Amino acid sequence: MSTGQGKTVCVTGASGYIASWLVKLLLQKGYTVKATVRDPKDPKKTEHLRSLDGAKERLHLFKADLLEEGAFDAAVDGCQGVFHTASPVLISVTDPQIWYVLSKILAEEAGWKFAEGNGIDMVSMNPRLCIGPLLNPTLMTSVEQLLNVMSGTPTPFLNYPFVDVRDVASAHIQEFEVPSASGRYCLVGHVVDGFDTLKILRQLYPTLTLAEAVNPSDSKYQVSQEKAKGLGITFLPLETSLRDTIESLKEKGFIKI
Ligand SMILES: NC(=O)c1ccc[n+]([C@@H]2O[C@H](COP(=O)([O-])OP(=O)(O)OC[C@H]3O[C@@H](n4cnc5c(N)ncnc54)[C@H](OP(=O)(O)O)[C@@H]3O)[C@@H](O)[C@H]2O)c1
Repeated sequence: MSTGQGKTVCVTGASGYIASWLVKLLLQKGYTVKATVRDPKDPKKTEHLRSLDGAKERLHLFKADLLEEGAFDAAVDGCQGVFHTASPVLISVTDPQIWYVLSKILAEEAGWKFAEGNGIDMVSMNPRLCIGPLLNPTLMTSVEQLLNVMSGTPTPFLNYPFVDVRDVASAHIQEFEVPSASGRYCLVGHVVDGFDTLKILRQLYPTLTLAEAVNPSDSKYQVSQEKAKGLGITFLPLETSLRDTIESLKEKGFIKI
């Protein structure tokens, strides 16, 4: 389990939804983690990280903003690997999301160019809509959609390609640890239609009046898992992800059911 012993890695945007799981799993594996946040003095951004097992001994927080030249130099110095997750994430249900999507494409392109020009071994991870329990106290848009469904508000997000945040975090570590990892990885656990998602939710919470699905049968495609599975990446069942997300929302007081 302690494959990370003696190794130091950096996680950017460490207080985020995905990165918090990544930091937790890296610490569990024995890594020393240099984690960047924009405001290390904000307890909402750091308390959940500082309380992780191993954090006292092996977690080091750094202040870094993407908009400041050289801000990440100290955090990446001496690291064997960098997990770069920091990014402004603005997903809106009503907006066509074109700017967000464009920003992801441009950021990845810039990453490949930089890696090539600087002899860096880069792998990119492309998850779709992340669900799963929250470690950080902030509600992500993806998880907020489930909250809407549970309280009766219809959302088109029910038939999105889902992936569990815990699978995304372990996949990041896997691609770092497996030497043959290369190129881009699509991380999609399940492409389901809205009817299927609602069916699972109704089975899990039979007494609740849930929202109806919007465009429920829009998902007529699948995304290949072959490359991800070749790395040893596995995906949790959708039932588990949906149940654990809702239980986490209950535990954090976002929902009372
Ligand atoms: N959640 C999903 O469904 C999903 C799906 C596909 C891809 N992704 C991608 O995965 C990555 C992480 O997403 P997430 O869901 O974990 O989002 P998140 O919870 O919003 O985390 C993103 C982090 O980025 C940091 N950040 C934002 N602007 C920054 C800046 N100017 N400088 C430095 N840090 C900045 C924030 O840090 P502070 O807390 O320090 O302000 C935040 O914690 C993003 O690149 C996102 O686009 C997410």
